[in-house]
Amino acid sequence: MTAVSDVSLDPIVYLNGELVPLSEARVPVLDRGFIFGDGIYEVAPLYPHAGGRTAFRFRHHLARLARSLDKIGIVNPFDAAGWRELIDRVVAANEADAGLRADQDAIAYVQITRGVAKRGHAFPAGIQPTVFVMVTPLNLPGAAQRAQGVRCVTAEDRRWLNCDIKSVSLLGNVLMAQYAAENDAFEAIQFRDGMLTEGSSSNVWMVKDGVMYAPPRSHKILEGIRYGLIEELTGECAIRFEAREIAEAELRAADEIIVSSATKEVLPVTQLDDQPVGDGKPGAVFAALYAAYQRAKAKEAQEAHEAQQGVESESRERVIA
Ligand code: PDD
Repeated sequence: MTAVSDVSLDPIVYLNGELVPLSEARVPVLDRGFIFGDGIYEVAPLYPHAGGRTAFRFRHHLARLARSLDKIGIVNPFDAAGWRELIDRVVAANEADAGLRADQDAIAYVQITRGVAKRGHAFPAGIQPTVFVMVTPLNLPGAAQRAQGVRCVTAEDRRWLNCDIKSVSLLGNVLMAQYAAENDAFEAIQFRDGMLTEGSSSNVWMVKDGVMYAPPRSHKILEGIRYGLIEELTGECAIRFEAREIAEAELRAADEIIVSSATKEVLPVTQLDDQPVGDGKPGAVFAALYAAYQRAKAKEAQEAHEAQQGVESESRERVIA
């Protein structure tokens, strides 16, 4: 295995039972992920802590992965402990051989496709899913971006109606992200039938008169792992939260808009198309939720650290006994 100092250039990845440099990983062209976009993925942040790394809200990521696989009839190749162990292996390989630093935030990308078969739309019988795991450094938005907020553009949601499935068939989302890029915007916020759905790769939140709103969980949005988290954090911050349909005109008159995702955490939207959001500055609800998000990370890291110390002292005791 070639050691590369920059993990973002050539991380070590897991593909169908093997650890290989990304540059050497290959799937057959008849993989249904390539031919049909017939697969599921997950993106989970891995935050370092003293003596290890936590996959933040990992239980929730695994539950969503299991739900998505189930919805498209792919058997989950691992149980929760198996996924945990596999991701730990990929992290360890990248720390040992690909320059991933122990103190670096990282992201775990997991993809499972139905597998390789002669081309034909319906599910082929008796094929093995393709399993891919990649761990790369995560560069979270910086303080300047949080202080300034981001500009988003709006567009009609023209995607399919199974947006709750975290499918690798992302052309609708790709086109939206490209639309945002071409318009110098951070994200494209979508409306279906005049009602807010979500961004091209994020959930969208609205604040009006101190109340936080989000579109309800449904097949029209991907339920972000941050959806449940932020719902919990609003409770902790004594911010009223309501999940309900949000009309386009309401969003345009919001006091605050926030986007959330694994790779962005929470970010304030300070401009929507060419209008300022509220007073054009990140708001108080964003500030409270950002701080609560960081506390939630620290709490999970502390718990993981304590659990690890518990395991270590247990095994020390076993050795002494
Ligand atoms: N995407 N909605 C869509 C369409 C998304 O693609 C994402 C995240 C979210 C937020 O989900 P979460 O809070 O679990 O990250 C909502 C990931 C980051 C991606 O595709 O890279």
